[in-house]
Amino acid sequence: MKLMVTGGAGFIGSAVVRLAIARGLSVVNVDKLTYSANPASLASVEDHSAYAFEQADIADAEAMKAVLARHQPDAVMHLAAESHVDRSIDGPLAFVHTNVTGTAVLLEAVRAYLPTLEAGKRDTFRFHHVSTDEVFGALGMADRPFDETTAYAPNSPYSASKAASDHLVRAWGETFGVPYVLTNCSNNYGPFQFPEKLIPVVVLRALAGLPVPVYGQGLNVRDWLYVEDHAEALLLVLEKGRLGETYCIGGEAERRNIDLVKTLCLSLDAIQPAASPHARLIEFVTDRPGHDLRYAIDIAKIRGELGWSPRTPIEEGLERTVHWYRDNETWWRPLLERDGVGRRLGLSSF
Ligand code: NAD
Ligand code: TYD
Repeated sequence: MKLMVTGGAGFIGSAVVRLAIARGLSVVNVDKLTYSANPASLASVEDHSAYAFEQADIADAEAMKAVLARHQPDAVMHLAAESHVDRSIDGPLAFVHTNVTGTAVLLEAVRAYLPTLEAGKRDTFRFHHVSTDEVFGALGMADRPFDETTAYAPNSPYSASKAASDHLVRAWGETFGVPYVLTNCSNNYGPFQFPEKLIPVVVLRALAGLPVPVYGQGLNVRDWLYVEDHAEALLLVLEKGRLGETYCIGGEAERRNIDLVKTLCLSLDAIQPAASPHARLIEFVTDRPGHDLRYAIDIAKIRGELGWSPRTPIEEGLERTVHWYRDNETWWRPLLERDGVGRRLGLSSF
């Protein structure tokens, strides 16, 4: 099986590429290498004969056509995206370009590619669209978690652009017969995450003795999934998921931000004691505009149909993540120089 992965130099995409290669698949990774990409995340596979890389923008129709023709994949797993909510507040149009136009261009390229395949290969081809639970909007504290029947109600330019891309995938399936599966996942964490998302921000700033910014009062709730567990779920849905179905994926690990941050600080106290507890670095800062209160996922469908559930308990995953960042400065240090990193993003409203 040859898998084309878009966004494979990013956080989740690189976990998928590493796992797919370990499982004996051939992979072609199509990535534009934006600010959030790090080819060093693929160091363990880059020399593997089953791995190929194409630097290209998914919104470039000619490039997508050429990549599909050259590599003849059996499936496409689409992860390439602008992914940071705060950046979507400062510059929403980049999100429309990649997440909406890019997805449409890719779908068109796949639609043109399908008739070139022999019947057997065409019947088993899958377009797997990787999306987020943020498309469902915000839950109240007492609400039932999101599931596959939850209505879309995105609140940020990021989640709106992902919601649009989900609708495009569904439409290309219904109208043109593009054979798709779609997944909506909760917040991921783990090694190789770009240092502008909550967990790496907390770990790296606390390690450096810098203030740790918690938006608002830290009462927002997220459902955390270890990235390698997500990668396993994605390959499973690709292989066994029913055509045209959506699967919600989550970690069954809801935490208030402030509790998560305190757990990380305690973990840092244990592995790298400082003069005072790391939690003293916590600083409550101006809230994000339109900050969704809570996300949570009901995983009954993927558990019942495909037998998947998260493997890594959150305490263990966080511990592993803290150790990984402490031990992999050569991976993250150069990223701190990239545009916007270390600055408070996403405050602009007018
Ligand atoms: P990321 O920002 O770490 O990686 C995105 C990758 O896409 C980068 O390598 C980047 O270079 C590439 N890319 C961006 N624009 C591109 C373009 N126009 N053409 C080609 N490549 C491009 O993101 P991530 O956290 O790994 O998220 C991957 C996917 O998973 C996204 O679609 C995101 O919406 C979804 N998702 C993320 C989370 C999460 O918690 N991180 C949760 C659920 C779903
Ligand atoms: P983030 O990692 O940006 O993911 P998302 O917004 O997609 O859920 O943020 C996770 C939560 O942490 C979110 O409620 C915003 C909050 N947050 C902070 O409190 N401080 C920070 O420095 C960052 C980046 C996020």
